[in-house]
Amino acid sequence: DTATCILGIETSCDETAAALVRRNGDGSGEILSDIVFSQLDEHAAYGGVVPEIAARAHVERLDGLIARALDEAGIGLGDIDAVAATSGPGLIGGLIVGLMTAKALAAARGKPLYAINHLEGHALTARLTDRLEFPYLLLLVSGGHTQMILVRGVGDYERWGTTIDDALGEAFDKTAKLLGLPYPGGPQVERSAAGGDADRFSLPTPLRGDKRLDFSFSGLKTAVRQAAQAAAPLSEQDIADICASFQKAITQTLQERVARSLDRFSETFGQTRDRPALVVAGGVAANRMIRESLSDLCGKRGFRFVAPPMRLCTDNAVMIAWAAAERMAHGMESDGLDVAPRARWP
Ligand code: KG4
Ligand code: ZN
Repeated sequence: DTATCILGIETSCDETAAALVRRNGDGSGEILSDIVFSQLDEHAAYGGVVPEIAARAHVERLDGLIARALDEAGIGLGDIDAVAATSGPGLIGGLIVGLMTAKALAAARGKPLYAINHLEGHALTARLTDRLEFPYLLLLVSGGHTQMILVRGVGDYERWGTTIDDALGEAFDKTAKLLGLPYPGGPQVERSAAGGDADRFSLPTPLRGDKRLDFSFSGLKTAVRQAAQAAAPLSEQDIADICASFQKAITQTLQERVARSLDRFSETFGQTRDRPALVVAGGVAANRMIRESLSDLCGKRGFRFVAPPMRLCTDNAVMIAWAAAERMAHGMESDGLDVAPRARWP
């Protein structure tokens, strides 16, 4: 029996999470428990994540969450095959809390430790939810990341594009703030945009025609500020119109930018492969207009559009446990107890 059972821990930002995942010998996986405590309420008053508050909240919650995750899975610490924690990139205080906890458990129980790159967790989730084969493309769009990644295999990633300024979620959050909408801004902007006229303001589509596969959003934010200043004082309808125009510009930019990566994928791997896939992950993947436009684009280019369930698209510990399970299954070594957390991980 080559099945493995992994305890995963995620504390790189403002979600404290613990999960138990089993990977079977045939490559399929099962989520035995999945617990996420979102610290959103503790940060909302500050309009963003406060690192020190986040680290303290992780310390307070993590032990209890791990106990609950084991309990819900009906598993004792002695029964797990490895302990995995996010070791970067992220906020250093939180990373220290999660990784030290994992080290303590691994040392106390004599289990292997896996120090997982957060992005690898996002990258491999679609193999758990959709049993995807390599290679595939991942578009990761969250508050901290905007990346197009070629996933060639476990531990084998190539970054094709990244943002040259703001992350996409950050662009939504900053636009919301500018319009007086509360944090986190993405869902607020989407809601307001539903009642707005997307053609009222003409906003730029950054990097259009640029051959690189990168993204840029700060120019859009500046254009929104100018539109807001010109229309001030803003009525509710003005705000809705700006949100709708912003969302439309974002959608068009993403379409144009992502299309280039799909083309490059087809050029690289040829037309023989049946139905290549684009996976989206990250909080911004919750946006319906963005999802639909990317799904349309994939359909036109012969790509499969894969969006894991929202709960597994945003930060969670299932993806960390799963990444460790995949590493184990592919014969990759565990990490020593001296492994250090990394706020940045190029
Ligand atoms: O992945 P996530 O939950 O956390 C990290 O950033 O790690 O992503 C949060 C980001 C925030 O910037 C939030 O405003 C954005 O995702 N977001 C959205 C929507 N829901 C969340 N952006 C656009 N439309 C949404 N519906
Ligand atoms: Zn994330």
